[in-house]
Amino acid sequence: MALVNYKEIFSYAKEHRLTIGAFNSVNMETLQAVASAADQMNVPLIIQTYHAHVDYAGADYMQAIADAASKRLNTKLAMGLDHGRSFEQAKLCIDNRYSGVMIDLASEDYDYNVRETRRVVELAHARGISVEAELGTISDADRTLEEIAAGYTDPKVARDFVADTGIDCLAVSIGTAHGIYKYQPKINFELLGELLETVPCPIVVHGGSNTPDEEVEEMVRMGIAKLNVGTDFFRAYNQAIYDFQKEFGTDAEITDLMRAAREAVEKVALHKLSILSKFRR
Ligand code: 13P
Repeated sequence: MALVNYKEIFSYAKEHRLTIGAFNSVNMETLQAVASAADQMNVPLIIQTYHAHVDYAGADYMQAIADAASKRLNTKLAMGLDHGRSFEQAKLCIDNRYSGVMIDLASEDYDYNVRETRRVVELAHARGISVEAELGTISDADRTLEEIAAGYTDPKVARDFVADTGIDCLAVSIGTAHGIYKYQPKINFELLGELLETVPCPIVVHGGSNTPDEEVEEMVRMGIAKLNVGTDFFRAYNQAIYDFQKEFGTDAEITDLMRAAREAVEKVALHKLSILSKFRR
């Protein structure tokens, strides 16, 4: 199989009542780990590269690894840019045959966000590539609950934004945040319900790491289309390398080291996917 776009993945997910994992990867091992987990669970997956990781690893390298995974494995895989910072960065990933791009201009004013997002949508859709954007502010997880809540997405503005831009999915702010939570997150399920009713496209939740499993399960039950997860994989990767080095030192086989890191990420991915596919039919 080749990489597929988000539309195809979302329509499969709707039919089978799945929330799609959008799992961030930074190199071959993390990408192989999340793709293999999806294949084992027989669920589609969006592999993502965070904007800074595109700068680090190169859109061409990461797309090539994802493309190889999609050809080897039997499940549907998409490759997406996460939190694209500009039209130019989205274009770079589009030119490198990503299957989806996120353009995140949520911190800019509404008109600018609409204008630039539409430019990305026009370019991407002409090539069969999907677009995600964000409205409201999804904070970093070291913020207080009040600061996180101050960024909540307004459902009516979100509905207009989708109509004004033609995006394929929308990232919303409902109480999750990126990174390691300083305070236990508080998901606003009432707001999520309102967004699911009001917004005419699939809803994306970011900040899937160290959000309690029961809260994730409830968001899945309610019908979020996509959950982004990054930090949990990178922590597992770092921890495995740390543990391996502590036990075997620096003269060990490098493939054993990388395999340990890959397996640690795969284990976390399998656990996340088991929650995201809990209501599968
Ligand atoms: P975490 O790193 O908190 O899982 O967030 C990932 C994310 O939302 C990427 O867009």
